[in-house]
Amino acid sequence: MHATLCDLITDLVQNAFEADATEIKLNVEETEKNLKVVIQDNGKGMSAETLEKAKDPFWSDGRKHRHRNVGLGLPFLFQTSEMTNGRVEIDSQEGLGTTVTFHFDPTHVDLPVFGNFTTAAITLMTYGFKGNLTIERSRNGMRYTLSRNELADALGDLNDLESLTLLKAFVESNEEELNHNDSDIL
Ligand SMILES: Nc1ncnc2c1ncn2[C@@H]1O[C@H](COP(=O)(O)OP(=O)(O)O)[C@@H](O)[C@H]1O
Ligand SMILES: [Mg+2]
Repeated sequence: MHATLCDLITDLVQNAFEADATEIKLNVEETEKNLKVVIQDNGKGMSAETLEKAKDPFWSDGRKHRHRNVGLGLPFLFQTSEMTNGRVEIDSQEGLGTTVTFHFDPTHVDLPVFGNFTTAAITLMTYGFKGNLTIERSRNGMRYTLSRNELADALGDLNDLESLTLLKAFVESNEEELNHNDSDIL
């Protein structure tokens, strides 16, 4: 289903888009001992009953996908967490929004590979979404922030080929700096 953790993160942020959020914050913090991800949105939220059902892979609210009625995002999150002794917290209030937080052990052998964060960030930043998305990313103490509103102010339409090229180069250079810092430590 999901090849990487970045695919999972992309899916969970897409849930926030689909919940009609106008403000979304994604925080991805990696250290050697812990991967912490927080996805906070001000969308429609879930009732306790919906949240319970959402853990079931054979349930989806039936409105989003014309060709499938099976949810992937939350069940995969819970399954991965169970398999790797991770921790998931979902705090959701109808009409107010949802915060999904998870902690995974990056050294656990059953944890899917992290994947390509640049691709995930670009997919999310160029999604047809009218609100603001802020991405905070840190790795072993190095950090950077991306704000969709600020990027759109600086680059114009983010789906435009020229903006897309600049956006990709910008995110890639930020990611390289985080990884470069790793090799300094080792
Ligand atoms: N951030 C969110 N805000 C509101 N509802 C959500 C959110 N995330 C998930 N849900 C609800 O949980 C259901 C299951 O989500 P998910 O497992 O990603 O499957 P899918 O998106 O394919 O339906 C969604 O259909 C939606 O009703
Ligand atoms: Mg989903």
